[in-house]
Order: sequence, then structure tokens, then C-alpha cells
Amino acid sequence: MTAHDHDRLLIIDFGSQVTQLIARRLRELNVYCEIHPYQAVTDAFLAAFAPKAVIFSGGPASVIDETSPRPPKGVWDLGVPILGICYGQQVMMAELGGRVERGQGTAEFGRAYVEPQGAGTALLEGWFEDGREQVWMSHGDHVAAIAPGFEVLGTSPNAPFAITADVARGFFAVQFHPEVHHTPNGARLYENFVRLAGFSGDWTMGAYREEAIEKIRAQVGNAKVICALSGGVDSSVAAVLIHEAIGAQLTCVFVDHGLLRQGEAEEVVTMFRDHYNMPLIHAAEEERFLTALEGVTDPEVKRKTIGALFIDVFQHHASELGGAEFLAQGTLYPDVIESVSFSGGPSVTIKSHHNVGGLPEKMGLKLVEPLRELFKDEVRALGRELGLPPHFIARHPFPGPGLAIRCPGEITRDKLDILRRADAVYIDQIRRHGLYDEIWQAFAALLPVRTVGVMGDGRTYDYACALRAVTSVDGMTADYYPFSHAFLGETATRIINEVPGINRVTYDITSKPPGTIEWE
Ligand code: XMP
Repeated sequence: MTAHDHDRLLIIDFGSQVTQLIARRLRELNVYCEIHPYQAVTDAFLAAFAPKAVIFSGGPASVIDETSPRPPKGVWDLGVPILGICYGQQVMMAELGGRVERGQGTAEFGRAYVEPQGAGTALLEGWFEDGREQVWMSHGDHVAAIAPGFEVLGTSPNAPFAITADVARGFFAVQFHPEVHHTPNGARLYENFVRLAGFSGDWTMGAYREEAIEKIRAQVGNAKVICALSGGVDSSVAAVLIHEAIGAQLTCVFVDHGLLRQGEAEEVVTMFRDHYNMPLIHAAEEERFLTALEGVTDPEVKRKTIGALFIDVFQHHASELGGAEFLAQGTLYPDVIESVSFSGGPSVTIKSHHNVGGLPEKMGLKLVEPLRELFKDEVRALGRELGLPPHFIARHPFPGPGLAIRCPGEITRDKLDILRRADAVYIDQIRRHGLYDEIWQAFAALLPVRTVGVMGDGRTYDYACALRAVTSVDGMTADYYPFSHAFLGETATRIINEVPGINRVTYDITSKPPGTIEWE
């Protein structure tokens, strides 16, 4: 059985920054779904994909513009339920004979309250139990007249057509975003939608493990595979999964790019070589990476430089090994989607992700990416399923480009050493206070400025560092972690006392958006 044999839901992406959250909500319901940019979804694509239901995402365009993105005509004749979100609602109305108007003075961003209207439908089960529902609006244009066959099922002061449906045809459309946390009961709408579409909820980690192993064996045959092991949760789970599938055909290559945290290289090598008994090459390439990064200050150039070198190193070890045909990577679904958008999809690229963005066009190795369909928390669930140690699975995410993107400006060995020590003290503090598991990600960044301080009787002129800690469900959005002042004070004191080269500590209180989690 493969993903193809599950009931499949298709999300047509019109470029919303939160399209992935729709997929998250569905995966939580054990529903297999894929996101595809609208340009890729043709009638032929629909026939091949054979979705059991379709969702139209939101998006930044205006349906009033003639060139605005549309779904293929065939979607209306599939005979499956369709749910339109925000722009997805407007496009549904415009295509089916309703009217959308430009939002002059009626644009709406933020919290709103929707009240029920009409008879209700299966989509709204469990909604309006307390009279009204809080929702998150984010739209410029609005629907001015609904399409024939539709009725209004919910209204808000600024969105008289907040919830609309043609129940007979199974077409539903909402003006707000049920996928974001600011629509507290939004998950229920998705649950109702997949239930009325007849999904059985058969997408579980146990099933995934078996299927992934079969798929890896079928793809690889008797060939040798090298796995890019970074020590992060993603590549570790990928390695253990592939090892389970093909045993000694797998060799792991751990590229030590000199941008790792304190003690990290030893920990990874010990765990996989000694504990898992995997053939592991420890490629100590600090010199090469740091030389290539000399003088580089632009974040995208850093990412691309590191990504390209990474692949070089793999190719080198693959040829040394003799005859490896495949390269395994712990690429996740969010990496894939972001990069698709970059190369043609409608949403704006914020950062090019290391795993995908750095791949040269013509790679001598074929890719095995058994986590391509999974989100981060699904990878953790798979790791538990595979018996990886809980403390290892609970580790905070660490980006492929490593400390390079936590050291804005030019990278030097000295700066990296200072950063590593500060980071180690900070994480030690977090663990001592029992806060590690409450935090999605915590790290220190070394700022490219030096500031004046006074220690003892002397003047200091040293670097400032910023501490970052965020809570998040999936890394897509994040809030800063509200440490106590006592904790922050104690941590700052420890860092300044224990880390030569730092004389000032700041705490980053930016959420995402508008910030990103990493500094670059
Ligand atoms: P941002 O900084 O975009 O980060 O808010 C979101 C999450 O992604 C991680 N991240 C990366 N992971 N390769 C990775 O494997 C990368 O190039 C990369 N850049 C960011 C980041 O640590 C956070 O968890």
C-alpha cells in the first residue's frame, strides 16, 4: 500500500502564506492530503490524482483581475466536495456566477465574530453552540453576490457572506481562515468537511512506517545508499527508517561543517556508530566550509554556498565508497512546498531552504527522501514508532546551515567559538530550569556588533549576543517564550561570566511573523 492507495485530499494552492496549516489540520485528522500550486493543477492532473475532496487555499491575488489564478474547469465536475477559503471562496463565487467586489473600505484583517444564519449543514456541526464563533479574517476583496444555488450560513458585520454553501453539490466556501489558531474552532470545520466527504482517517504512523519501508526497498533494489546524517531529528529518523529497510546497503555520512553546536559531532557519531551499529563516515570538513564562507555576509549566499558544498562532499564520499547510487535526505514536506513556491508557485520565498535550495541541477545521485510527505511533528511520531530515544526525538530543530545563520555578518572561527559557548550555557540554563520541552526552539545568536561594558575595574569592548526562544506548533508561526526576568537575569550573568568575548546579552521578543525564527 502506498500514499496513492489512501483516500486523498487535494489542496490547490493560490499562494496563501498559511496554506500549509490547512494540510496540518487535515493530517491531524489522519487524512492524507497534498498541496499543489494552481498552475500545476490541470484537468489531466485532477484525473490522475483522483481526489476524494478538494480545498482551495487563500491567496494574495484579486479575482477581479483577469489574469488572477483559477482552478481548472474540470474541478466542478469531479462530483467531490469542495471547500474554498478566503480567495478560494471568491474564486468559487466568481467562477460559478456570483460577484466579487474590490474592498474599498471593507478590507478586514484580524479577529471577527460570525453568527449563524439559515438551516445549518453538516459542515457546521459543533459550531455556534455558544451563539457566535471567533474567526480570523484577512481579505481585501469581498463577495458581493453569491452564486446561484448557494445559501448563506454565517455572517459577520463586515462579511455578510462569511459562510456560504451549495449543499446539494457539496460546495462550501468561507471568507475567513479556519486553519489558523485565531479561529479557535476552525479544526472542527475541517473535521466536518472530511467526514462529509467520506474520509476514513486511515493515514497513521504505523501504516506510514510499513509503507515507507516497502517504498524504499522498491526504489533502491540492491543499490547502495548514502545518507546525509546531520544529527537532527529529520535526518536521524530518515537514517533509522532506511537502515530498517535495507540494512548494510546504507552508509551514513555525517558532514561536520564546523557550524555545529558544542559537543554535537561526538554525540552523533557515538549514537549512530555505537548504538545503531550503522556504517558511518565522519567527514570533518570545517576547513573547506569556513574557507568558502570567508567574506560572505549575505544570508542567501551563505545558504547557497553551504548547500552546494554539502552536495559536493556527499558526491565525493559516494564515489569513494564506490558505486552508491542513491543519496538519502531528511527533507520534510514544508521544505518541499516552500521550494515549489519559489520556483513558480505564487507565494513569496522568504528563505531558500538548505535541503532543496542547494541542490545542483545535475546531481550524479538519485534521491531517497522518505520523509517528503511528513510534517515535523509527524516525523517525531515516526521516530517514536521506530524506537529512537525520547530525549533525542525531543531535541529542538537545528537548521542545515547550522550556526552560520545564527551569526549575522561574516563568520569567523572566533565568532563561532564564542557563539557555541554562549549557546551551551543558555541551553544548560533552560534544561536546569526544566523548560526545554516547553520550547519549540531556543538558541543564541551572535550579533555583529561590539559594545562597551565594564567588568571589575576595566572597560570591555566585546560582542553582544541575542537569546531566542519560541513556542510554535510547526515552525510556520511562532511566539517568543515568556521567560521570567529572574531566569533572563541569571542567564545573562552566566553567559557574561562564562563566555569570554561577550559582554552584553539581549532577549529577542519578536514573534513570527513579522520575524522569522532564525536570524537569517
Ligand atoms: P525560519 O527562520 O524560516 O525557520 O522561521 C523555521 C524553521 O526552519 C528551520 N530552518 C531550517 N531547517 N534547513 C533546515 O533544515 C534550513 O536551511 C533552515 N532554515 C531554517 C528553523 O530552524 C526553524 O525551525
